[in-house]
Amino acid sequence: MKFRSLIALAMIGAAGLAPALAADEPQVVRQEMMKKVGGATGAMAKMVKGEMDYDAAAALAALTTISEVAATYGDFFPEGSDTGFETEAAPAIWSDRDGFNEKLAQFKADADAGVAAAPADLDGLKAVFGPLTKNCGACHEDYRLKKS
Ligand code: HEC
Repeated sequence: MKFRSLIALAMIGAAGLAPALAADEPQVVRQEMMKKVGGATGAMAKMVKGEMDYDAAAALAALTTISEVAATYGDFFPEGSDTGFETEAAPAIWSDRDGFNEKLAQFKADADAGVAAAPADLDGLKAVFGPLTKNCGACHEDYRLKKS
């Protein structure tokens, strides 16, 4: 009896102390999202640079991934998530949310234009890849901390 209640107490204690799963934290979710964007961009860059044969389905999948990330990315910057989990999000996201939202909206618009174009050949991809990837640096410049 005594032993059982000790176990029960230990279990309650463990449940109470268990931190929220790191994978659910906004800092972690948004880093995973940007990793997906990085992967999708890398796949298209290989085609653009001629390191890989043009693959229309793969290009469309990459553009779609970026469009999907851009659609909800802004939801993962709640107050208080400016630090922790090695986030590289810059304080400007919270002090200048309108500016950040504008950059994100442009990013989404360019990704959507790419999806709508559904490039059939490499020239078609190049036409959307250039404008789309201008957004990366444009946003990172002000809204992502420089890695030291
Ligand atoms: C609207 C703003 C914005 C745009 C546009 C944007 N990024 Fe980011 N990106 C961020 C922010 C903010 C972070 C840091 C997030 C964090 O660490 O919490 C980040 C982080 C990253 C990371 C690091 C992910 C990791 O491992 O933690 C990569 C890779 C990345 N971005 C690639 C890209 C590429 C490629 C593009 C363009 C195709 C792009 N980003 C466009 C805001 C943006």
